[in-house]
Amino acid sequence: MTCRCKSKFNAVFMKNLEWYIHKIYGKYKRELFNRSGNKVLEIGAGTGTNLPYYKKGIDLTIIEPSKDMLKYFLEKAGKHNLNIHVIEGFGEKIPFEEETFDTVVSTLVLCSVKEQEEVLKEIKRVLKTGGTFIFIEHVKAPEGSFTAKVQDVFHKGWKWIFEGCDIKRDTGSTIKRFFPEAQIKQIRFNSPFIPVNYHIIGYAVKK
Ligand SMILES: C[S@@+](CC[C@H](N)C(=O)[O-])C[C@H]1O[C@@H](n2cnc3c(N)ncnc32)[C@H](O)[C@@H]1O
Repeated sequence: MTCRCKSKFNAVFMKNLEWYIHKIYGKYKRELFNRSGNKVLEIGAGTGTNLPYYKKGIDLTIIEPSKDMLKYFLEKAGKHNLNIHVIEGFGEKIPFEEETFDTVVSTLVLCSVKEQEEVLKEIKRVLKTGGTFIFIEHVKAPEGSFTAKVQDVFHKGWKWIFEGCDIKRDTGSTIKRFFPEAQIKQIRFNSPFIPVNYHIIGYAVKK
């Protein structure tokens, strides 16, 4: 029998962190989500922290592997005037045909997926030509910085506690390989969560 303790812990942790997530990412999300179309896919929607930022009335499909996260997501889903479809699954294998979505969203997910390149390949595949990929991700700190040293110390433990969350991924470079035209802002937050202070925030339009 497998223990769901860590999955439950992570869902409760994210749920309790929602106020803080809104506080630090809210203004960026309001700006970015304005770019979204009517048919949106969100990868790893977690407890549903992005729900308030979507345009009202749109079709939102989410793909999320954790039942524990989904429990909290579903509690909020009906309150936002969105047509929501929920899929329990992984971003590495998105069960839709190519060119299905106007927008794909990923926030704080590409750190945790097992196969980052596979997920990006899938995102690009299901996105319509002219569609937009929107992302906010924490990333590896610059070599030699204080945060890079902190990341070295916490890397393994963090990954273990937070179910595969890798604080040392150079996600911006990987996104650029799949979406060379991506507009990426690098932002350093001054949060108490030092290992995840460096972020990339941006979007890419599929050519
Ligand atoms: C840190 S949480 C972020 C949740 C939400 N996107 C947010 O911004 O609050 C990471 C989420 O990614 C999900 N996840 C992990 N691996 C995944 C995968 N391979 N495909 C899709 N989602 C995944 C986790 O279950 C979790 O809900």
